[in-house]
Amino acid sequence: MTCNTGPKNGFMTGTYHISTEDLRPSPQSELALYRQLYERFRAAIACGKLQPGDRVPSIRSLASELNLARGTVELAYQILSSEGYLVSHGAAGTLVSPELSGAVLSPPRPSAVAEPDSHPLTTSGAGLLQPGLPALDAFPHSSWTRLAGRNLRALHRTGLLSPDVAGYAPLRQALASYLAISRGIHCSAEQIFITAGYRGALDLICRTLLQPGDSGWFENPGYRFAREFLQHSGMQLHSVPVDQHGLVVEQGIEQHAGARFAVVTPTHQSPTGVTLSLARRLELLRWASQHQAWIIEDDYDSEFRYQGQPLPALKSLDHDDRVLYSGTFSKVLFPGLRLAYLVVPAALVSGFRASAGWLPGAGHMHLQATVADFMAQGHFARHLRRMRTLYAQRRQYLVSAIGEVFGKRLSVDPAAGGIHILARLPPQEDDRLLVRRAQKAGFALQALNDWRTEEAEAGGLIMGFTNIAGADAARALARQLLAATDSA
Ligand SMILES: Cc1ncc(COP(=O)(O)O)c(C=O)c1O
Repeated sequence: MTCNTGPKNGFMTGTYHISTEDLRPSPQSELALYRQLYERFRAAIACGKLQPGDRVPSIRSLASELNLARGTVELAYQILSSEGYLVSHGAAGTLVSPELSGAVLSPPRPSAVAEPDSHPLTTSGAGLLQPGLPALDAFPHSSWTRLAGRNLRALHRTGLLSPDVAGYAPLRQALASYLAISRGIHCSAEQIFITAGYRGALDLICRTLLQPGDSGWFENPGYRFAREFLQHSGMQLHSVPVDQHGLVVEQGIEQHAGARFAVVTPTHQSPTGVTLSLARRLELLRWASQHQAWIIEDDYDSEFRYQGQPLPALKSLDHDDRVLYSGTFSKVLFPGLRLAYLVVPAALVSGFRASAGWLPGAGHMHLQATVADFMAQGHFARHLRRMRTLYAQRRQYLVSAIGEVFGKRLSVDPAAGGIHILARLPPQEDDRLLVRRAQKAGFALQALNDWRTEEAEAGGLIMGFTNIAGADAARALARQLLAATDSA
């Protein structure tokens, strides 16, 4: 309703300042007629067309004027009366409550929603060279939608009932088989918890095994979003450096031997891509056993390795049950799924189930059932095989193009695995500045120094390559990046 003060018309006379037309519900609206009538009265009261003490038409006359059922008007009046907008005065009829205050009469103004802080690491939609994304053009949409559609149509009991707190049982079963074959982890389905992304897994760990104020090692540089999540959960993080053999375990022990936990990305350190050496793996496990500390293994993209076989997970060497292992479907399927998983030691299953019981869980069973079918019917293994070959090729396109266009200014570790590359800059270059410039030109790459707890001398650019269509596209992107980063 517009709140103008134009001439009165219609049947309303005397104290009525409103025409019946102002109250007429719209047949096009999706709202029920009584609800529309209620809203129109409220709006008329709010903008002063109906004042406290004004008499409103009787139910019968308004119903007849608007050609509505009496029950419709009656229902609207009942709600307005129950909320205190209208009062009945017996034979005198129904009035707008004389006691309505100015605060009720003027509708609250919606407060302006603050623009979100521009976050240097996020983009809406896929940006150029965005790290962390799988190849969007190579996802097997038709198999996926066929399975998803079948699950939706079947709407079987699993999707209707309250789910198991640990997630969909056949998916956990499929994961147990997959982890044994591809990661060397031998666990039962009962030890697996499906979570809402990796942060869901961290949340479950924090709430089951840790207390706010507990201290832990965190790789420096390291996965920024996990660091922020743990800090927000009250954990005290100690930065432990990373070199060409991964986390410098010796330094962690020297400086923070008493920590309760360590978060590591042993297969491909995030973001440098290096592998934690066997000697350091054993040293880390020894420290955890001696100090009864927990190791959180984030195995986020181990499936993609371009030289030799993927290494078994750190968890596969864990004889004292100190490792909590987490994997995600964000890289191997797609990040919009928001599905990850956590493997916990058998002795901790009941404690984890207790916490999972009061947490929101990983969402609808239908998606979990679709992932389970995708794995059980062989689509998953096929997709991974295809993506390994494709990513090796696309990685090479980008590495060659960077070499051609940037020369010695950027250097990439040729051995690193995963689905992004880290191109290191010489010490005099400011990676954050270059990234800001590149973002203005549509790039979504990230600055190495944003993944560090303190700025180091040399920065770098973290870039995704999975969505580069070919060698020419890679060259064009590299040239575009050079032009964008060199622009003042
Ligand atoms: C280092 C690292 N760990 C874990 C994840 C997975 O996070 P999520 O399962 O929340 O998508 C990512 C995703 O980008 C990552 O880069």
